[in-house]
Amino acid sequence: MSKVIKNGTIVTADRTYKGDVKIDDGVITEIGDNLSGDETLDATGCYVMPGGIDPHTHLEMPFMGTYSTDDFESGTRAALAGGTTMVVDFALPSPDQSLLEAISMWDNKSTRANCDYSFHMAITWWGEQVFDEMETIVKEKGINTFKHFMAYKGALMVDDDEMYSSFQRCAELGALPLVHAENGDVVAQLQAKLLAEGNNGPEAHAFSRPPEVEGEATNRAIMIADMAGVPLYVVHTSSEQAHEAIRRARQNGIRVYGEPLIQHLTLDDSEYANADWDHAARRVMSPPFRNKKHQDSLWAGLQSGSLQVVATDHCAFTTEQKRSGLGDFTKIPNGTGGLEDRMPMLWTHGVNTGRLTMNEFVAVTSTNIAKILNTYPKKGAILVGADADIVVWDPTREKTIGADSQQSAIDYNVFEGKHVKGLPRYTLTRGHVAIEEDVIKTREGHGEFVKREPYQAVNKALSSWKEVTAPRKVERTGIPASGV
Ligand code: URP
Ligand code: ZN
Ligand code: ZN
Repeated sequence: MSKVIKNGTIVTADRTYKGDVKIDDGVITEIGDNLSGDETLDATGCYVMPGGIDPHTHLEMPFMGTYSTDDFESGTRAALAGGTTMVVDFALPSPDQSLLEAISMWDNKSTRANCDYSFHMAITWWGEQVFDEMETIVKEKGINTFKHFMAYKGALMVDDDEMYSSFQRCAELGALPLVHAENGDVVAQLQAKLLAEGNNGPEAHAFSRPPEVEGEATNRAIMIADMAGVPLYVVHTSSEQAHEAIRRARQNGIRVYGEPLIQHLTLDDSEYANADWDHAARRVMSPPFRNKKHQDSLWAGLQSGSLQVVATDHCAFTTEQKRSGLGDFTKIPNGTGGLEDRMPMLWTHGVNTGRLTMNEFVAVTSTNIAKILNTYPKKGAILVGADADIVVWDPTREKTIGADSQQSAIDYNVFEGKHVKGLPRYTLTRGHVAIEEDVIKTREGHGEFVKREPYQAVNKALSSWKEVTAPRKVERTGIPASGV
């Protein structure tokens, strides 16, 4: 059964043009005028764009003594409802656990996915086994990205020694390292100090993670990656200090990518001053929400290209789960949702305000991500042969975001009350119409794992630093008599 999306305007990362899109067997088979097929989807007045890709989610993730509540079923349903057709989740081995074991756990959970997905592998400890298994992960499992937590001391954090070793291994394997960049040692000290002074509410979470801990760690990770000879992807870039480190490195020819979240772009730190403990705790995530100055910096980064993608870090906990941190903010599970709201919020606050063009919107929500994660043009493209992961975007549809009408399984929404204009008319996942305006037609288990090949060209053109300081033995003629 073929389908044709008719009468729409196709918007990609580099073009805007009129055309119909024909789909057969889950892929785009033709783009042109006056196409016909077994079924017609009317896109009059709409933009036909590559479905969104969220490069950063945590579905049913064991974390801080509990599991994030949205699983691969509710999480991907929420994604599709908001126009996102692929998620990349983090497989997280516990300390000493085999990477391969972690993958099979994530394989089991993801069988319920409604849309396609891939995994990043987290490096949470280091040893010969991890070194060896990284090769299998890249060459056999189709995962070419490894995440390193520089924070969460005593749990997920790795030190510089481990990170440098892992980055070098990534360079050998043609893989891309990712970092959660916060100085975990400093955070731990600040947390202890705040608690000792009686600051135990959710607002103290933000005080314990100032922008400086992020800026320092971002710069450190960039320098370590450069020394290891590998590009770097910095997840949830939230502050000017981190952005500045990325910007400076890029100007010096270092290949580094920055990923702001829709939460950091549109919500600010005044949320933590809310008198309602639940309200503030529901917004506890790392890095925390920042002030307007940082938000302006992130928007400018997207506009100028120094930041490349927008994600959610979707890691949703219920109010009840958040309450395990009553009396001690360090025990509030870190994480917020956003999968359903990323595209409408970014369109509303980016495209409708004139900050981003429609083509830039497609780039930062889909195409850049597909390219950086090495799955373009299977994903992130409206091209013949690409997967029919498509959103038919109606710029006139509006709603007010609210937990009462969301797909996510949690009991609140951090964007509650925000008005958005620009929503999907249809969302297609490999040709299947999963969303038709407010009607949910998702199919549990429809989602498939997307294998991603290793990168062919790692950062062989290293910074000039390498030229100058590469070790070279000096042949000496005049050796002092006492010399050995
Ligand atoms: O607070 C956050 N971001 N929770 C999810 C885990 C992580 O750090 O990405
Ligand atoms: Zn993180
Ligand atoms: Zn995360």
